[in-house]
Amino acid sequence: MNIDSINKKIATVIKTVADPQTRENLILGRKGIIAVALKSVKELPVAERAQAGAALNTLKERLTKQLKTTLSSEPSFDLSLPPLEPKTGSFHPITATTDRIVQIFSGLGFVVQTGNEIVSDYDNFGSLHFPLNHPVRDTQDSFVLADLPDLLLRTQTSAAQVPIMSTNDLPLRVLVPGKTFRREIDATHQPTFHQIEGFIVDEQVTFTDLKGMLQHFVEAYFGKPMPTRFRPHYFPFTEPSAEMDVLWERPDGSKRWLEVAGSGCIHPAVLQNAGINPKKYQGVAFGFGIDRLPMLRHGISHMRDLSNNNEELLRQFSIL
Ligand code: DAH
Repeated sequence: MNIDSINKKIATVIKTVADPQTRENLILGRKGIIAVALKSVKELPVAERAQAGAALNTLKERLTKQLKTTLSSEPSFDLSLPPLEPKTGSFHPITATTDRIVQIFSGLGFVVQTGNEIVSDYDNFGSLHFPLNHPVRDTQDSFVLADLPDLLLRTQTSAAQVPIMSTNDLPLRVLVPGKTFRREIDATHQPTFHQIEGFIVDEQVTFTDLKGMLQHFVEAYFGKPMPTRFRPHYFPFTEPSAEMDVLWERPDGSKRWLEVAGSGCIHPAVLQNAGINPKKYQGVAFGFGIDRLPMLRHGISHMRDLSNNNEELLRQFSIL
């Protein structure tokens, strides 16, 4: 069901069928274009049905009036018929999601900084307390620059932590949105994906601040209270570390815990790598995968759909 293609079909009938009665049957008849489209509404995802049905009914009313007028007042070309609706652009779901996350955290005093996409092995791993040759690096199979093996495409926006901490005055509340790259591909992983890193470095920041902040974020993002849970986890650059899950209710009513962010208190070694005295300052950090959030919110099942320029799919977001 696509309103543009229905409009096109109707325009074709109007252009090519001269007899007003046949024309009316083809468009408004029992098996006409509108009737078929109305039937197909029930195949749409539940969330889209009401809107699609309303759009079709409005179109039907308008056409009923117009075709009746044409019936009574030949000739057959009615120049007052509406033009095809203009196509308007919209923000890509990834951009819209990033903007929304930034907006929510801006309210908590965070500012956006950009990190580099090509980074040194040290920024991506070493500075973040990943021991050299530690197997944890295998979990993030990286794209290394062929002639410059010390450089790679960042596997995580966390790679911006130490460069930003070491070149800015404290205290800091920073967000780093951007592209990240890993050698993996399946329904929920693409080699290029998007993350948003957030961290605070200040005197007396605690895990409690982190939890409260992330809970606030989730409720603001989804627009309603959402149950969350923090699962203990391991990241080399935070101690303690936790993953945050959100209890997600599918359209059919079933529920599932879904991981949305990694987080924790910044490891003293990371602060030290940035020249910060961990006895005086502490930090908390978190990292969201951005791609999964619009997938959840809009029921997109394959991550590839976000990047293959599928206009049909992307156009649906113009209503956001
Ligand atoms: N960089 C982690 C990843 O890509 C995500 C992450 C976890 C970021 C914990 C953080 C953090 O800042 O504290 O899996």
